[in-house]
Amino acid sequence: MATGLTAFLKRCQGQVDEYLEQLLPEGDTSLHRAMRYSLFNGGKRIRPALCYAAAELIGTPSPLTHRAACAVEMIHAYSLIHDDLPSMDNDDLRRGKPTCHIAFGEATAILAGDGLQALAFNVLSNGTFNPGLQLSMLACLSRASGPSGMVGGQALDLAAVNRHLELSNLEAMHRAKTGALIDASIELGALSTGSATAPQLSALRDYSRSIGLAFQVRDDILDVESGTEVLGKRQGADNALNKPTYTSLLGLAGAKAKLDELHEQSLQALEIFGSRADCLTEIAHFIVSRDH
Ligand code: IPE
Ligand code: IPE
Ligand code: MG
Ligand code: MG
Ligand code: MG
Repeated sequence: MATGLTAFLKRCQGQVDEYLEQLLPEGDTSLHRAMRYSLFNGGKRIRPALCYAAAELIGTPSPLTHRAACAVEMIHAYSLIHDDLPSMDNDDLRRGKPTCHIAFGEATAILAGDGLQALAFNVLSNGTFNPGLQLSMLACLSRASGPSGMVGGQALDLAAVNRHLELSNLEAMHRAKTGALIDASIELGALSTGSATAPQLSALRDYSRSIGLAFQVRDDILDVESGTEVLGKRQGADNALNKPTYTSLLGLAGAKAKLDELHEQSLQALEIFGSRADCLTEIAHFIVSRDH
């Protein structure tokens, strides 16, 4: 990883962790501990990093940027808690540790996910900011999280178990379950500056559509060719559940070719920003080459 990106990701992790600490409600019930466990157990924080990178590209990050970064990470953590449940992917390992329902029981895990989801919208709606801006950010995050975004994609994913999907349907599923929240991370970062123009938002949207799909294509590839230790989650989980993935449809080489194509498209979308988009360029390199 480029040293500049390593430093940037470290800074983003530090910032988002500090704000998450402030925004999480105090309490020591199993619900509070489960929410905390799933937020602070070693995630890469790539969505907050995209949020900060977009804000820094467009203008000046503000306290609203920190809230947006926390909100997307809360939705992400909730989505993973529910994704791992026995009724969904039935996984026992996440980030090298027992999944939330293994550590706290299924009912508490469901509630921890619900709690984090509600908290994400609470965080974005509170504080003293331009209410119109906050409203558009709430609309963005709710669209990306709901039936037209992550939750809709997860439903398509579950419905596809043991079935063959056409490539176009697989792409729609990946764009929704993973791409939508990545789109929102970038859009929220840009919106949080209060100075994003329509052409800037449109270029960022082209970037995020490519890199959001690439993120899940890379995830499918890692499920085949990585190892449980490095991944921190069980390698081969998709295959064990007979899920249609980019590797099952296109083969490993075909999935890698698709990843290269998406990488190239993401870089093209950034051209209008010139070298000011170096950070988003580095994040794109990271997403397509990450090992976990
Ligand atoms: C994993 O996301 C789930 C997918 C959407 C593929 P990440 O790879 O960003 O997970 P963490 O937060 O770093 O563990
Ligand atoms: C998860 O996709 C997408 C979410 C919305 C959580 P996966 O099921 O492939 O994610 P992992 O591999 O368990 O992290
Ligand atoms: Mg899943
Ligand atoms: Mg899963
Ligand atoms: Mg996966």
